[in-house]
Amino acid sequence: MTELAQLLTGPPTFDVEALRKDFPLLQRTVRGGRPLVYLDSGATAQKPLAVLDAERDFYELHNAAVHRGAHQLAEEADELYEGARAKVAAFIGAATDEIVFTKNATEGINLVAYSMSNAATSGPEAARFVVGPGDEVVVSEMEHHSNLVPWQQLCQRTGATLKWFRVDDDGRLDTSDVDSVITERAKVVALVHQSNVVGTVNPLDVIAARAHDVGAVVVIDGAQSVPHMPVDVGALGVDFLAFSGHKMCGPSGVGVLWGRRELLAAMPPFLTGGSMIEIVEMSGTTFMPPPARFEAGVPNTAQAIGLGAAVDYLSGVGMQAIAEHEQALTSYALSRVGALSGVRIIGPVTAEARGATVSFVVDGLHPHDVGQVLDDLGIAVRTGHHCAWPLARRFNIPGTTRATFYLYNTHAEIDTLAEGIDAVQRFFS
Ligand code: ALA
Repeated sequence: MTELAQLLTGPPTFDVEALRKDFPLLQRTVRGGRPLVYLDSGATAQKPLAVLDAERDFYELHNAAVHRGAHQLAEEADELYEGARAKVAAFIGAATDEIVFTKNATEGINLVAYSMSNAATSGPEAARFVVGPGDEVVVSEMEHHSNLVPWQQLCQRTGATLKWFRVDDDGRLDTSDVDSVITERAKVVALVHQSNVVGTVNPLDVIAARAHDVGAVVVIDGAQSVPHMPVDVGALGVDFLAFSGHKMCGPSGVGVLWGRRELLAAMPPFLTGGSMIEIVEMSGTTFMPPPARFEAGVPNTAQAIGLGAAVDYLSGVGMQAIAEHEQALTSYALSRVGALSGVRIIGPVTAEARGATVSFVVDGLHPHDVGQVLDDLGIAVRTGHHCAWPLARRFNIPGTTRATFYLYNTHAEIDTLAEGIDAVQRFFS
């Protein structure tokens, strides 16, 4: 840590340099031998050896199709897969049978949206999920497309109306009109926990309280929060939470949908096929209880087991320690990047109620140009609208350059970023 960084943010809460050694990819160089400065964990996180080993171990020693076989390998695969489910459940304070493995957060949200439109043709137990003309679905202007387009499509399929919370000039959710945005007609309120563009952490308690007052279910996109802070679904007070494995040091191809047990039990399936059925006759089929009802087909088994290893790894470091480390990085980045002339932070400019996602624009430059020159310097950031196009429109910009930090990032990397932005400005001047 540089002296300036230490003065501004205090000592680190754990040994980042030691922990970086667990991540083989962070040791490599890019662009002609430059050290990699990986500031794109909001897009996908790097993987520790423990996760790579868990996947390899599964394929080397236990590979079998889960929930189908009668042989020893199948039994071992079942134990590993269900063991991963139990680990993920404990990680977010849930019951094991409330954890549905999906492909990613996007699939989890689509699962709920499609189940809702399937509810109209399902039994009476699904009645509370039926959505139709006159009903309202509430989102926000800061949603990632994954928590916007599925709800637009649900409205299109059912005749319901989409409404949304606006975002203020600081990148915070405008909740001043919560009672008129969430009315008695609301059936579902779908909201991002932590914005993938501006880092804002939303006040879920205020929103969930109003949503529940009017009988709406609350669906949370936790793709950017669950990897970065302690999340306890009991304390969150919401009904569904979706997140992705690959953003929390796990493999790609696996995600999680958590839902309250009584809601999952009443929800019709989205994908149908093998392993989610009770009885199949030519005239019809009955379905297993959750979570099996929502896991048709052979699942991404090694990936789920890898996610279990990721959860062990993150828990070993400590989610509170990770959150504190990221908050220190965020404060430092906001002060360093925000101090550069001709650079504007998009989103909250202080570290309160925001995560380690720092988006900015450089006067006179397109984000893609900024990103390209930073890449030449070995600094990996994301540029563009970040799959949240309406939010870029809200700020009247084509997009941002976005740096995202995780447990393995250092204050020195933020110094490199700030120096890199300065170099970008000189390059184009
Ligand atoms: N949703 C990911 C991001 O924000 C890909 O970059």
